[in-house]
Amino acid sequence: MAFRHPDELPAGDPTVLPRDAVIAIDGPAGSGKSSTARALAERFDLLYIDTGAMYRALTHAALSAGINPGDEAALVALLAPAALELRPARGETTVLWCGNDVSRAIRTPQVEAAVSQVSTHAEVRRLMVERQQALGRRGGVIMEGRDIGSVVFPLATAKIHLSASPEARADRRWRQFRERGVEVDRDGLVRELADRDRQDSERAASPLQISADAFVIDSSDLGFEQQNELCARACLVNPTLDAALDLDIQRARRELPARYRLAYGAMDAMTRFFGMIEYGNGERPIPRGCIASVNHISLWDPAMVAGTFRRGPIHTLAKAELFHPGWLGGNFFRWMDAIPIRRKGYDRNAFREAAARLAEGGNLMIFPEGTRQAIGELGQVRSGLGILVQETRAPVLPIFVRGAYGKRIGGSVESPMEVWRGSLMRWHGLDDLLGQVDRRVASDRIGLLCRAAWCELQARSYQQHPVTEFENELRQNQLHYFAARQTKLFGS
Ligand code: DC
Repeated sequence: MAFRHPDELPAGDPTVLPRDAVIAIDGPAGSGKSSTARALAERFDLLYIDTGAMYRALTHAALSAGINPGDEAALVALLAPAALELRPARGETTVLWCGNDVSRAIRTPQVEAAVSQVSTHAEVRRLMVERQQALGRRGGVIMEGRDIGSVVFPLATAKIHLSASPEARADRRWRQFRERGVEVDRDGLVRELADRDRQDSERAASPLQISADAFVIDSSDLGFEQQNELCARACLVNPTLDAALDLDIQRARRELPARYRLAYGAMDAMTRFFGMIEYGNGERPIPRGCIASVNHISLWDPAMVAGTFRRGPIHTLAKAELFHPGWLGGNFFRWMDAIPIRRKGYDRNAFREAAARLAEGGNLMIFPEGTRQAIGELGQVRSGLGILVQETRAPVLPIFVRGAYGKRIGGSVESPMEVWRGSLMRWHGLDDLLGQVDRRVASDRIGLLCRAAWCELQARSYQQHPVTEFENELRQNQLHYFAARQTKLFGS
């Protein structure tokens, strides 16, 4: 369901946009991203960052130095030490490459023809993404490109996927050229755009794709003002929903069933005792009806994370072996509303039950890597998360845990015990995505998004407290142990 008109989205209150907001706009060439991003930057007082200009600047430098756009090593050697600066200006951004203003030079047909190839290289992208994250991590930015919502800022406040038919995009380009007094062949423009679309969306490294949590806006039939209005409204939907959730907190605390109050209290006290620190939630309870998707490193993770929920009920999917009768723990898991799941294959009953609990407004805590991983090694997210999302449309809250080793009263410097909460992922673009790919691919994409969110949270954690020697040593031992276990459980 692509949005066609501003009235299809609520107007939203501009004051709810947080000061550290990150707005991601992705889309193909000629979709009008740049003009809209600039307009929104002005409207919401955000810094506008044109990531396409960064790839163009590298392309221009490479062409000037006689470097082949297919030569990844040479491009990396050129980019790594280069000073690349974007300065906001009226109209197009001023781009400085090693101090030289290349703003005009990067818009030539020669650069245009080579930039798609330059941007296919994985290592070039890694370096660019690092720079883009550094530019935007403090927030207050609107960033435009192809992979902003999926790779650069998976936790963006709002993601917009702006598209338009190739004809509409070619038409806009053609009119722009005409205004500048340049005559070009319209059919040729359509072919050129289709060519770039193909290169940008078929490349292996971070291709242009619809993010399942992005607003998909088709601007083919929209005027510029309408397009801007629609995008502005899309920016405000998540913050508006988040603000409404906050109003619910006091009621949720009062309604918490006694056994949860007891269990949460105990878990909370325990984690405080060990000096666990929570980031990214300001002591807010977890919203109802959402899936908390947590990376798994130790058997302490469920207790560490559950203690931060502060409202019930919370259900976990736990391996069926834990429910074995005759073991005291089995009763505990049942009492705490855990749902048993067989880890091999697809356990339909477990998923059905989990969906029912979510529909009632319960929370689900899952560890979708399927088994524990060595610290610092985020595993692949298995398809279960994507299947659940497609069946329930429940928002996903990515959570990253670190620590739970080297427990000491008041906290351990060797192994900081931390729980990082990301922002809620809501599936605005899932229908559009399912119009393009099958359910299996959609599940993979949802899993990749969740993993990208963990990576970002992990990066923030490591920035706050760099990896310790103790953690590095432990990691080496675990790598060996968990690899053997993974093979035993799931095959290679
Ligand atoms: O948006 P633009 O036309 O200026 O982008 C130029 C090229 O850079 C485009 O072919 C795709 C690439 N690009 C990319 O791969 N990733 C981004 N985040 C931005 C641009």
